[in-house]
Amino acid sequence: MTTKKLKVGMIGLGEQSTDNLLPALLLSSYARVIAICDIDPGRLQKIGMEKGIPGLYIDFREMLDKEALDAVVVCSFPEIHYEVARYAIAKGIHVFVEKPPVSNISQLNDLIDLSVEKGVRTGVGMNFSYTDCHEIISNVIREDEFGDMSFISIEHISSKPTSPLWDLDSVMESFLLAQLIHPLDYILSLGGKYNALNVYCSGGLSSIFMQIMIEFENAVIGCLKCGTFYPRFKHTIEVVSKNGNTITVRDLSLIEVTQKNGNAPFGLKSKNCATIFTPSPLKAGYSKAGYGRELDTFFQNILFGHPYRHSFVHMLPVYEILAKIGSLLREKEGDTHNIIDPPLNIHHYATSYLSQ
Ligand SMILES: NC(=O)c1ccc[n+]([C@@H]2O[C@H](COP(=O)([O-])OP(=O)(O)OC[C@H]3O[C@@H](n4cnc5c(N)ncnc54)[C@H](O)[C@@H]3O)[C@@H](O)[C@H]2O)c1
Repeated sequence: MTTKKLKVGMIGLGEQSTDNLLPALLLSSYARVIAICDIDPGRLQKIGMEKGIPGLYIDFREMLDKEALDAVVVCSFPEIHYEVARYAIAKGIHVFVEKPPVSNISQLNDLIDLSVEKGVRTGVGMNFSYTDCHEIISNVIREDEFGDMSFISIEHISSKPTSPLWDLDSVMESFLLAQLIHPLDYILSLGGKYNALNVYCSGGLSSIFMQIMIEFENAVIGCLKCGTFYPRFKHTIEVVSKNGNTITVRDLSLIEVTQKNGNAPFGLKSKNCATIFTPSPLKAGYSKAGYGRELDTFFQNILFGHPYRHSFVHMLPVYEILAKIGSLLREKEGDTHNIIDPPLNIHHYATSYLSQ
């Protein structure tokens, strides 16, 4: 049986869109791209011609008014994400936006209220939860033999941003919305509800280092390191179970599993052994980095009501923490190094949406 494809429009045709989201969208079994939009007419014409997309628009409002779209995918700047999402949701069109979905928590709350009122599905490009490696991590930690989680550690370090992004005023705010949002969402989605967070931050504006220690309700301890001091992007996820088993993923391409009391092959001792799994080098980047699966999971949620955990509502705990860190750092704006000392302690405070 062939699935009905959603009629989708894509807004914003910059680097992330043309490298990742648009190609993943064009490969989707659940979507057909019928229109694209960018304020840059040259880019619009070129991509429209190359990909054979009929509807070309410079003004997103005109596109949303004229085309009979089921959903729109937006990949631009947070203020544009907000403007487009507001306009699309008001018209009853489902919306998927790249991260960061909006500039601040009040915009997020506004869109949540409107999407609830209009019965519209929303999604955010949190691709780290849709990678091939994430699928393996989820399968391993679900196994009884692995045991209950006791510790999650994530390292998400890059070299950017070094200057304010989009229309934001500060590098720190840009760092929170462009970088920290990813591992923060990921650790919260693995650990669940938390009791308390301690945030440590140091560094000058050219190299930020932030560490967040999290006590989750289920007694799991989380440790998140994020920063802008490394010359390349470096990414490590480690999960340790109460039984002493571990799974570690490096740069989304090497997965190491150790078993404290496992049966090692060929008479080897388990304390000297690890199982190394490397995804096939021939797998498409869209699958490895999660761009294909993040879109398809959103479309499957619209089409079949399949579970989905990256709607705007799900982003609230992340934005609550970002807002708290941001406001504390603004208070300390006069400090030369933006050091949080003593560490910021955030106790979980529930919003009406968190239990949904
Ligand atoms: N998830 C990831 O791994 C990842 C990686 C890189 C970037 N991103 C995100 O992707 C988004 C885009 O980043 P980018 O590097 O592609 O930026 P970019 O500057 O290359 O692209 C932005 C595009 O939006 C267009 N645009 C601006 N205003 C518009 C409007 N009113 N209507 C239509 N189009 C408009 C611009 O012309 C440009 O083509 C950002 O939010 C960024 O955080 C995500």
